[in-house]
Amino acid sequence: MILPRVMRWMLLVMAAPRSMAVSPVTRCIMYLTGQHPVVPPVDQLRHVTHVALAFMDSHLFNDALREDWPLFMTVDQVRPLFVPGTKVMIAIGGWGDTQGFSSAALNDTTRKRFAGNIARMVSHTGADGVDIDWEYPGGNGEDYKQIPNSEKSWEIDAYSSLIKEIRSAIGPDKIISAAVPGLERDMLGFTPKTVPELMQHIDFLNVMTYDMMNRRDSVTKHHTGVVLSLEAVDAYVSRGAKPESLNLGFAFYTKYFKTEHAACASSASKVGCPTLLLEDPETGADLGRAGGFSWHDNVPEEVTESFRRALHEGVYDDEQGGYYHWDEAEDLWWTFDTPDAVERKFPLIMDKRKLGGVFAWGLGEDAPAYKHLAALNRRLDKYDCQGKKDEL
Ligand SMILES: *[C@@H]1O[C@H](CO)[C@@H](O)[C@H](O)[C@H]1NC(C)=O
Repeated sequence: MILPRVMRWMLLVMAAPRSMAVSPVTRCIMYLTGQHPVVPPVDQLRHVTHVALAFMDSHLFNDALREDWPLFMTVDQVRPLFVPGTKVMIAIGGWGDTQGFSSAALNDTTRKRFAGNIARMVSHTGADGVDIDWEYPGGNGEDYKQIPNSEKSWEIDAYSSLIKEIRSAIGPDKIISAAVPGLERDMLGFTPKTVPELMQHIDFLNVMTYDMMNRRDSVTKHHTGVVLSLEAVDAYVSRGAKPESLNLGFAFYTKYFKTEHAACASSASKVGCPTLLLEDPETGADLGRAGGFSWHDNVPEEVTESFRRALHEGVYDDEQGGYYHWDEAEDLWWTFDTPDAVERKFPLIMDKRKLGGVFAWGLGEDAPAYKHLAALNRRLDKYDCQGKKDEL
């Protein structure tokens, strides 16, 4: 039975031991994607505070007179699937969708038009706010080999001007969040000057602590590993974000990369061993030696056997923090979170850094078993929605 939030909170408070300590974990955000638009029964969504519908194209907001706001599901269709009171947000942009943001950020006129359109979209759809997924302001996006970062350096200051304009257009009561990169090399737009400016207008940051190994790398890493995640959140804190305004990203999908056999076979640690060349150094094109799939996808036939071994023979790396398997038969490095690896991030990251929330990409990606969501829920059961943690 779903009790209203306030009643659940009262029950928790009445049942709480005196030692209950205040914890800042108050947010659990699920991206709901057009690729996998499915959700579990509502009891499994008991901790979800926000759902972000991904994605609406950024370029829509540069049109002068747009009236329609196409998305794979409407806000009204989404609300009844979640606990009453769950905030429904529209995520704008996503990987590869940078041109619309660039055009928007250009000058005062374009920023005002973009922000005004966001306000009209929010009011038209009935959403509670927007999540800005510009990957990434200042460069290093999908087109980084076509448009060098040096041509995008103006975006760094323009980004916070754009966010400021969005806040003034949608008002103080709607939510603004931003999805931000997990690797320091991609944090071009997030400087000690811009982060404090951004945080005046943004409610929270979804730190994408996943895909931290990708085809731009040349050695094996944990794509959503603990040490890399700590480095990511620490970078935002050192640039001026408060830990409670950061959400830690969880990936409900696997990744794999083709490695060099001899070097990995002879290396004691399988972390840091060389991959094959993963992308074309001239064009940045994918060379087909890396891949990934969500828990809801069919496993690609060519890696079925290897993935089976990764599930059964993989281990947890206590040093770097992450589940992995190096499959020597097929020279594949597998990196993904098991439910156990999800749970370990609570003591190792959430509690240590006192972060304000968690988010996952994405909810339907964990269907049909929702084992990783269940792992999050097991941990979130120990916190209540008012931010108190049962220390027992
Ligand atoms: C802003 O940029 C647009 C698009 O390039 C241009 O048409 C417009 O004149 C610019 N406005 C100002 C005030 O610079």
